[in-house]
Amino acid sequence: MEEKNETVTAEETLRTPEPRAAGGHSQIAIITGASSGIGREFARQIDRLKEVDEIWIIARGLKKLDETREELDTPVVQFPLDLTKKESFDNIREALLRQMPIVKYLVNAAGYGKFGSTTELTLEESEGIIELNDRALVTMTGLAVPYMVGGSHILHMGSISAYMPLPDFAAYAASKAFVVSYSYAQRAELKPKGITVTAVCPFWVKTAFFDRVANANATRIPEKYRFMSSPDHVVKKALKAAKKNKPVSINRPAAKCLHVAAKLLPKRVVIALWRGMQKRQRSEKEAKI
Ligand SMILES: NC(=O)c1ccc[n+]([C@@H]2O[C@H](COP(=O)([O-])OP(=O)(O)OC[C@H]3O[C@@H](n4cnc5c(N)ncnc54)[C@H](OP(=O)(O)O)[C@@H]3O)[C@@H](O)[C@H]2O)c1
Repeated sequence: MEEKNETVTAEETLRTPEPRAAGGHSQIAIITGASSGIGREFARQIDRLKEVDEIWIIARGLKKLDETREELDTPVVQFPLDLTKKESFDNIREALLRQMPIVKYLVNAAGYGKFGSTTELTLEESEGIIELNDRALVTMTGLAVPYMVGGSHILHMGSISAYMPLPDFAAYAASKAFVVSYSYAQRAELKPKGITVTAVCPFWVKTAFFDRVANANATRIPEKYRFMSSPDHVVKKALKAAKKNKPVSINRPAAKCLHVAAKLLPKRVVIALWRGMQKRQRSEKEAKI
């Protein structure tokens, strides 16, 4: 392992002429969305595992990436990048090429959702969800897999909503259905190489996700988020699932019940139940006014 607390910016990495681990490849973890919530918690817990020489953390805001870095003992490389922009990936591609590391963990945790119907959301909002939750996840994975070996782990942030078509959260839920399907197929592809792929599918998690979730015009935003988990619990379970080579990590019984119900029930019933919840919450709100 390299010296602790060494911090390297993406720019410095690009200037590094040779692989930095003398006599071998350094082992790294790459975590998108590591400046907040679940991604930051992955950084903390992977740091504690002491399995990698460096943690590469990616998100738009440098200040919050700094906060993540300050919490970690493992040397960190920060990539303050907007992953909805294709050119952002050039930085990561070049850093990988220069350093030729072994990617021990890839965690695709950057993502967001917006409540609102098709007409309430702007096209930019709907497209942005897919750009980040799906396209960026696929690109990041495509870049990292050539650097992965037997015993490497990929964790994709899905959601329990992956199993349910959700009116007023349609693009988000569909973007997560993509993640789960992609994850299952990729798992089969990478099995011969000994690389595990796990889709992490929690119910609500207490993070900054909810600061960004409301569209200004949305008329049906949930009033209450029941059965909230902590990022700590979600990540603990997810890393355990990856080590056991599980296809999906669902961290709580409530989410497991939803998962089973969503698989068994016809889609129209799932939608009717969601609509019922929306209606109930709206009447409760109106009764309070
Ligand atoms: N919270 C929940 O209830 C919940 C439930 C199920 C699944 N999930 C999924 O879990 C993942 C993590 O969400 P979270 O709850 O931890 O939310 P969060 O606290 O808001 O974290 C989202 C992360 O993504 C980064 N990000 C957002 N837009 C980005 C962009 N354009 N380019 C690069 N990075 C970007 C954010 O940093 P910057 O803003 O600085 O870029 C932040 O680090 C998401 O995929 C989410 O869909 C969340």
